[in-house]
Amino acid sequence: MSIAVRDLVHIYHPGSPLQTKALDGVTFEAERGSWVAVVGHTGSGKSTLAQHLNGLLLPTEGSVSVDDIQVRHGEESLRKVRQKVGLVFQYPEQQLFEETVFKEVSFGPRNWGFQAGRLEKSVEEALELVGIGEDLYEANPFRLSGGQKRRVAIASTLSSDPDYLVMDEPTAGLDSPGRRQLLGLLSDLKKLGKGIIHITHDMELALGLADSILVLDEGKSTLWGPPGVILGELLERDIRGLVIPDLVRFAGRLRDLGFEVPLTWEPKILAEAIGRSHGR
Ligand SMILES: Nc1ncnc2c1ncn2[C@@H]1O[C@H](COP(=O)(O)OP(=O)(O)O)[C@@H](O)[C@H]1O
Ligand SMILES: [Mg+2]
Repeated sequence: MSIAVRDLVHIYHPGSPLQTKALDGVTFEAERGSWVAVVGHTGSGKSTLAQHLNGLLLPTEGSVSVDDIQVRHGEESLRKVRQKVGLVFQYPEQQLFEETVFKEVSFGPRNWGFQAGRLEKSVEEALELVGIGEDLYEANPFRLSGGQKRRVAIASTLSSDPDYLVMDEPTAGLDSPGRRQLLGLLSDLKKLGKGIIHITHDMELALGLADSILVLDEGKSTLWGPPGVILGELLERDIRGLVIPDLVRFAGRLRDLGFEVPLTWEPKILAEAIGRSHGR
């Protein structure tokens, strides 16, 4: 069970002066129960890719399939895909449209035909998971703070109980406790067997959390693999706009000098390895 993307090309406004090739041959796979991070500089195609994963955009060339359902024109295939894959937009304002928080978060489950009891339950559970209390159920989503809007946008995706969650820069606009809470929630959802596709420009976050990392550069999937492999590659060649954590650079430098230390971004692991190499 996975989302499989093969040689995906996306061209905006084909044949017009505004023609832009936003994706140029992207291949990767995101399984249920795993966490894939998609990283790349601004304009590398991350948000365009996100919108392909639940059929908001359709391939110019190549293919996207979700649990073996092809994402293509046709109401039935798109409906199935959208029920399986929840997308949280980069900007919550792109997603919110109802007058109250409760209505906003019930839109999905209502659309999928959840029965009355289950509908309320799923809405309340989703809001609780993101830390929005009953006092805000009747609030206008547009009047909320940036962080609260983002939580409501996430809840409105969770309430439909999708098998995959695509989050486009979900930690933007959240303070540090909010970030930690959200990342903890995503870890829990992964443990429950959901596929997490986390779009971020924060390499350190990706290295620390993902099972696999896809690096996009100018719409191409230039790197794809587990964090350890990606790290090695990143040290070999510079990729525009990607910041390699200082500690990793330091570990790489130590290795060049002949120290037997792992390429790691975690201070504790590096310190222990240095201790060992000094016989402590
Ligand atoms: N709706 C659109 N119409 C035309 N070009 C677009 C549109 N959305 C994005 N682009 C272009 O596609 C490329 C990739 O953009 P995007 O997917 O938003 O990248 P990212 O999310 O990595 O910043 C950029 O060159 C951007 O200007
Ligand atoms: Mg984007």
